[in-house]
Amino acid sequence: MESTDTILVTGGAGFIGSNFVLEWLRTQSAKVITLDKLTYAGNLRNLASLAGDPQHEFVQGDICDQQLIATLLKTHRPRALVHFAAESHVDRSIKNPGEFIRTNVQGTLNLLQCSHPYWLELGAEQRAAFRFLHVSTDEVYGSLKLDEPAFTELTPYAPNSPYAASKAGSDHLVRAWHHTYGLPTLTTNCSNNYGPFQFPEKLIPLVLLNALEGKPLPIYGDGLNVRDWLYVGDHCEGIRTVLASGRPGQTYNIGGNNEHTNLDVVTRICDALDELRPDAKIGLRRNLMTYVKDRPGHDRRYAIDAGKIKAELGWSPCTGFEQGLRQTIAWYLGNMTWVDEVRSGAYQEWLQLNYRGR
Ligand code: NAD
Ligand code: TYD
Repeated sequence: MESTDTILVTGGAGFIGSNFVLEWLRTQSAKVITLDKLTYAGNLRNLASLAGDPQHEFVQGDICDQQLIATLLKTHRPRALVHFAAESHVDRSIKNPGEFIRTNVQGTLNLLQCSHPYWLELGAEQRAAFRFLHVSTDEVYGSLKLDEPAFTELTPYAPNSPYAASKAGSDHLVRAWHHTYGLPTLTTNCSNNYGPFQFPEKLIPLVLLNALEGKPLPIYGDGLNVRDWLYVGDHCEGIRTVLASGRPGQTYNIGGNNEHTNLDVVTRICDALDELRPDAKIGLRRNLMTYVKDRPGHDRRYAIDAGKIKAELGWSPCTGFEQGLRQTIAWYLGNMTWVDEVRSGAYQEWLQLNYRGR
């Protein structure tokens, strides 16, 4: 069996996946099959600009569906599977961990179990070229103290949230499928992404949209938790680099070299909006910051050492935080129809569930 120049992308209607698919089709020649279940986080509007593009095909379906995955592999014969699909929000994993185990662990297991026989049947050249690229998170490494060095690929796993535990489980499965069966896998562990198309349950778009409307900006705990912010375009470029040149069986950390406290992030968003959209009724948006009850088990700090991917593959992030934030703010301000559409009834229910009683 020959493979084609097609790639299969799971979760391609979500935040990072849709940025990846759009950029891939702008910059590469290989066709893309996007598989997505379209959960609350998946949105076909993210891919609307691809309507009618013969290089793109969308399939609605679940990564846990063995029959579907086997058929997609057999029909499209991709040369790579790029796996973004996941339940991705820590707060939701605290309220509903079961769904995270099903999608993130069992779903990844199913993709591996379907890819293995497909890969075995490829001709020798195609088998050597095939890649299973698993997109994961720095949260598998647990929490850092302020003075500790950043996570490397050798940092022991210590996941603290149900989300992080489910992603750690999936990473271990991917590792085992390479070690035991020889499947040519690649794993990337990245830091917090931000940019266009991010669902407004995560810190940056949630605060941006609340601040725009003069609503309270919920700061968990003391607001001094630190994240390493990675612009989504830089992340997608890192994934393309790993897919093209990463060594099978290896993991690569992808980070933004951009550590900031949540208070710093929120302050920057407030100040930028005061400048871009001044509103006398709202006044200074910093005053909207509202300290709320902390997230249970809230990790203090994440930081990525992206030295390996730079040394081996020549990738490093190129978007500064101020520039990335400005681009992100401009995108949301220019896409309020998208915002209105995603803030549906289901989104309102989530706000009620997460923020009531905090
Ligand atoms: P997202 O929640 O925006 O998108 C996830 C996508 O997966 C959605 O389109 C959803 O419909 C789809 N999906 C969910 N369950 C599915 C299933 N069972 N079958 C098929 N599709 C399903 O997530 P994101 O922020 O784009 O994250 C993408 C990947 O990157 C995830 O694996 C996540 O763990 C990882 N990651 C994200 C970040 C971040 O800051 N966003 C950081 C590190 C790692
Ligand atoms: P989030 O965007 O949920 O990403 P993660 O938990 O995966 O890092 O949260 C980023 C940081 O912002 C995290 O420390 C929790 C905090 N946070 C708030 O303070 N308020 C909020 O309303 C949200 C959603 C997050």
